[in-house]
Amino acid sequence: MKNFITINDLPNFKKCVENALIYKIDPFIHNGIGKNKTIGLLFFNPSLRTRLSTQLAAQNLGLNIMVMNLSTETWALEFEDGTKMSGIRSEHVKEAAAVISQYCDIIGIRAFANLTDKNKDEAEIVLNSFSKYAKKPILNMESSTSHPLQAIADAITIKENMPKHKPKVVLTWAPHPKALPHAVGNSFTRMINHIDADYYIAQPEGYELDSRITKNAKITYNQSEALENADFVYAKNWASYSNYGQILKTDNEWMLTKEKMKITNNAKFMHCLPVRRNIIVSDEVLDNKNSLVIQQANNRTFAAQSVIKLLIDGIS
Ligand code: CP
Repeated sequence: MKNFITINDLPNFKKCVENALIYKIDPFIHNGIGKNKTIGLLFFNPSLRTRLSTQLAAQNLGLNIMVMNLSTETWALEFEDGTKMSGIRSEHVKEAAAVISQYCDIIGIRAFANLTDKNKDEAEIVLNSFSKYAKKPILNMESSTSHPLQAIADAITIKENMPKHKPKVVLTWAPHPKALPHAVGNSFTRMINHIDADYYIAQPEGYELDSRITKNAKITYNQSEALENADFVYAKNWASYSNYGQILKTDNEWMLTKEKMKITNNAKFMHCLPVRRNIIVSDEVLDNKNSLVIQQANNRTFAAQSVIKLLIDGIS
């Protein structure tokens, strides 16, 4: 695999999940394959899980690892071509990416949507600029429009908790005080196409995700209807897509509560974390034995390991 930008880049999604489960049993079976290779993990935004799990995954494969917070630790980067750089941006991505590519064999990047300009976010300027000027394999650690490592971890978690029947899986919008990107919802929805499941997305009007991505999902504005007999409930906030980046609703009517979970089929609760307690989901749901959030976070390591192995294979 040359780059990992979305889960569509995987040569075989099912195999990637199976390999991740093998790494979960024995993380060190491919401990030598990263020897004398270096991965650089570049963060334009904060992270707890992605930073640590990707670092651990690379370490399990024997890679050398360099991590840098580009938002605080280095020169502010310019991404526009032909700009007179008289402002706060001191270095162009052309030089920065070319320089970093001399130090790294694989480059992981986290660069969120800014949620002010849909066209710019969808152009994935940071990821694509590094890909263009670094000419090294790019590992998406959450971009403007997708979070594929999270989606693979979610697929592993669903597989580990799969009921005997075809499951009903619900992605439900939940409230949040800040405008959040669409990346997790997009990638989870793309991922579900690889699972035999009845998939519903519930959200208030105005919060529909990109219809090019949700085309195979059953969409409803009625959260209770979606939750009925659900086997998995994934709560997530995102800002409006049509009214790009706007917050249209902040009340707690859509928060996941114990009462709402009662109408499910004893559903497992999922969230990518970090999660705001008693805003997105009540304490009782999050602290319940049916909550999978810690298992999801654990599976981030093995998802990353499975993907990085494919990127190493691509350069070997
Ligand atoms: N789920 C996730 O990506 O967590 P972090 O933002 O902490 O990396």
